[in-house]
Amino acid sequence: MKAIIPAAGVGTRLRPHTLVIPKVLINVGGKPILSHIIDKALESGIDDIAFIIGYKGNQIQEYVESNYSFKYRFYEQKEILGLAHAIGLAEEYLRDEPVFIVLGDTIFEADIESVFKGQYSSLGVREVEDPRRFGTVELDENGFAHTLVEKPVDPKSNLTLVGLYFLKNGKILKESINELIQRDYKTRDEYQITDALQILINRGEKVTTFHVDGWYDCGKPETILSTNRQLLQRMKQNYKVEGSLIRPPVYINAAAKVENSIIGPYTTIAKGSIIRNTILVNSIVGNESLVQDVCLKDSIIGDRAVISGSFKTLNVSDFSEITL
Ligand code: G1P
Repeated sequence: MKAIIPAAGVGTRLRPHTLVIPKVLINVGGKPILSHIIDKALESGIDDIAFIIGYKGNQIQEYVESNYSFKYRFYEQKEILGLAHAIGLAEEYLRDEPVFIVLGDTIFEADIESVFKGQYSSLGVREVEDPRRFGTVELDENGFAHTLVEKPVDPKSNLTLVGLYFLKNGKILKESINELIQRDYKTRDEYQITDALQILINRGEKVTTFHVDGWYDCGKPETILSTNRQLLQRMKQNYKVEGSLIRPPVYINAAAKVENSIIGPYTTIAKGSIIRNTILVNSIVGNESLVQDVCLKDSIIGDRAVISGSFKTLNVSDFSEITL
């Protein structure tokens, strides 16, 4: 089955990381955000993916091309006109057949295979306390979606769109997106997928919802770290490194080197990095970085960075009080 993954976003809240890489390539739990999504899609029966790329899209293309060999295609969104516009670019994936759409920064846990077998189009949802940052869904008495609102100021429903959309018929979505753009209907200055889906529902398409058990936000540094913690907890991997203390859960890539250090809990160390004489807690270190002689917590370090600390020397008498 075909899927569309929009991954054109700029990820401003994740600067400085997103000044050099696109958000979806940030490493969390041992692999880039995008890989969590691709791997889950492939596992669930998707075999052909359209990636919508924009900001630093060449890096995404290179990453997919050098790590995967399934059928895929890239579409470039040249202007930031919203998710509906982005998805609409993948015309060859919006035909008279089912399509699954997953936002490129939405790491999720849900039984999508059952959703694909269902009779109706279906939207991934979760109840949240404050839905104002999201799209919301109101259901009718039979459980079908009837009103979708993008980032409501005064929400009528706590049921939130997670960023997973299964459409029984991609062509109907394409027609709805076309209508949205023709009418120049924008919310918050963009063509929203939420508004395109409302058009599709108004045209009579029956749309249900499915519960998303795990929804891991990667929008801000704090949420990247909390997602990292949750993914590591699920992976339950055990590592032993002679001369170092490893406090699980952690991920240490086989091609990383840890020497004389205390690692974890909740720490990811990606490929080729070297960690030496260091304490590293609740942190992520990208590829080929060097971290030595430091004590770090709650930190995100990109690729090929060098962090070097130093040990202090004191000559202090009894009863002194020193805060360093
Ligand atoms: C997008 C969708 C929104 C959805 C959200 C999920 O918003 O427009 O309906 O609830 O993803 O993360 P964005 O996060 O791009 O502002």
